[in-house]
Amino acid sequence: MKNQILNLLKSQQDFISGQVLCEKFNVSRTAVWKAIKKLREKGYNIQSVTNKGYRLISSPNILDENEIKSKLKTKFIGKNITVLETVDSTNSYLKKNAHNCPDGTVVVARKQTRGKGRLGRVWQTKKDQAVCFSVLLRPEISPMEVSAVTPLCGLAVVKGLNDYFDFDAKIKWPNDVIIKNKKLCGILTEMSCEFDRVEHIIVGIGINLLIRDFPKEIAYKATSCCLESDREIDKNLLLANILKSIEDVLCSSEYAFNRNNLSEYKKYCATLGREITFMRKGQEVKGIATDINSDGELVVTLSNGKKETVFSGEVTVQGIY
Ligand code: BTN
Repeated sequence: MKNQILNLLKSQQDFISGQVLCEKFNVSRTAVWKAIKKLREKGYNIQSVTNKGYRLISSPNILDENEIKSKLKTKFIGKNITVLETVDSTNSYLKKNAHNCPDGTVVVARKQTRGKGRLGRVWQTKKDQAVCFSVLLRPEISPMEVSAVTPLCGLAVVKGLNDYFDFDAKIKWPNDVIIKNKKLCGILTEMSCEFDRVEHIIVGIGINLLIRDFPKEIAYKATSCCLESDREIDKNLLLANILKSIEDVLCSSEYAFNRNNLSEYKKYCATLGREITFMRKGQEVKGIATDINSDGELVVTLSNGKKETVFSGEVTVQGIY
């Protein structure tokens, strides 16, 4: 009932009387008052005036299931969505609960206590300063084909962020989103498979949103949306837009690279054309990143003209953190 009252208040700029609310939802005045109190506790600024009723002045800028749902334009991603106040990691949470989750389930956290980064690193952000979420996907693809999913999600996130903020964000291969060569967003994909069938994929995405002071160790290589844009940020709208972008990119290509999305990915890829260093059999190898192949792997041209493909792990890119 609380959400129904909220939706009604949102739909109207004028006051709505307590009597109208009671009649519409068939509840007592006390029940309406309790619902309004709960909404105020959640941060909604609701004005109440004797003989006029209630009017919504402003909504809190926190991630909220109903707010996201009201802005979501997807067919399946985020239709089942949970926003948790605190969780260890949205990826771990989805992994534990995957058996109960339909394709496209999204778990969002206002705070993670054990956020996971790539290559066993930690991903730490303060409460309400980042958008941290995971999407559970059940595509009918083989484990071999999963490698395209993370860069495609990187492509979707970069498009979503550029649209919302009018940024010129790019991708550091395979999937970091960067702006002015500093990291804005990271993606961690985990999968569960049986023999040659993917059971599910969990794509975990962390976007630095309202962070102004990064810890000293990462300040030189990290940035956030609020440092790069003056635009007012509606977290729920931003997340709804990014979920739509992910669905569009993944579904239009059936989770694979094709001619269109590969050339789009390359357009955004800041790694191409730069000197990179990667590890091969414990040895450091240098070369120029010259291409991305149809599996999403990085093609590196060595000084002797030979080409090598790099498919995962860490690459150091000259000029980018
Ligand atoms: C990286 O190292 O760049 C990947 C960072 C991924 C962080 C996100 S935040 C939401 C999801 N839950 C996690 O524990 N990690 C991912």
